Amino acid sequence: MTKVLVATVKPFAPKAISEIKEILDDAGYELILLEKYPEQADLIKTVGNVDAMIIRSDKVDKDVIDASGNLKIVVRAGAGYDNVDLEAATNKNIVVMNTPGQNANAVAELALGIMVYQARNHFNGTPGKELMGKTLGILAYGNVGKCVARIAKGFGMDIFAYDPFIDNKIIENDGVKAVDSAEELFKSCQYISLHIPANEQTRTSINYELMSLMPENATLVNTARKEIICEDSLLKMFAERKNFNYLSDIAPDCKEQIESNYAGRFFFSPKKMGAQTAEANINAGIAAAKQIINFLENNNRTFQVNK
Ligand code: 3PG
Repeated sequence: MTKVLVATVKPFAPKAISEIKEILDDAGYELILLEKYPEQADLIKTVGNVDAMIIRSDKVDKDVIDASGNLKIVVRAGAGYDNVDLEAATNKNIVVMNTPGQNANAVAELALGIMVYQARNHFNGTPGKELMGKTLGILAYGNVGKCVARIAKGFGMDIFAYDPFIDNKIIENDGVKAVDSAEELFKSCQYISLHIPANEQTRTSINYELMSLMPENATLVNTARKEIICEDSLLKMFAERKNFNYLSDIAPDCKEQIESNYAGRFFFSPKKMGAQTAEANINAGIAAAKQIINFLENNNRTFQVNK
């Protein structure tokens, strides 16, 4: 029987698991569930005899790949696949896929949610600010960036975006002002929402040169990856700019320094929760299960990322 391992340190909502199970049952596949596992060794032990694997931000490194015997496909139920060693997988002929767009709305809602939380002084009862009429810059206009624009429009924000990989006409069609550089975006916007992946080109790319271009009362929102931020630059911004705020779904390594020195000017989730909604789990989980079946039965590689 084909075995599909769902390995999630941060478990899916129960409804997502029951839907994944139903899809796998119908295909005659067996679901193996490894949730909240405390050690990477647990994943290494379990991966040995499975044919396919669904993960979230779980680390699929060379050790995991090496420990797999029958593994043919890993689907990252989500967008970013920086947690998977693509080279190790490719070397072992293992297909890696993601499920782009399936959790995008959840992440976008969180981005706007934490902006409101900050603008309203963490709901502490004092007069805050509104988002209406404020400038918002979206860095990368992919699935999440697009959802952020749609929701921000409802708030009446003045929206800009920069994405070197997307035709400006596509951005402008959504009623968003396309700009031609990240510098122009940062210079133009009081709020910046980051939606770039973590890779060799983007790691620490959000640096002082960019951040310092932001106008007074700037708020930087990161629901992408902590690695894209240059943390020395972040600390410099906090120290130099009394009105600079940083809101992030992923706490930076310098979290303690920020927490002890800059009260009221930051928000960090206890753990990454952008995609932590029942809806996002169901969408991404179902997509992942279907992609596995479609690959194993029909060799469909539509969402393969290690081509
Ligand atoms: C993604 O890349 O899809 C998001 O960061 C969600 O990650 P998660 O599945 O670990 O919540």
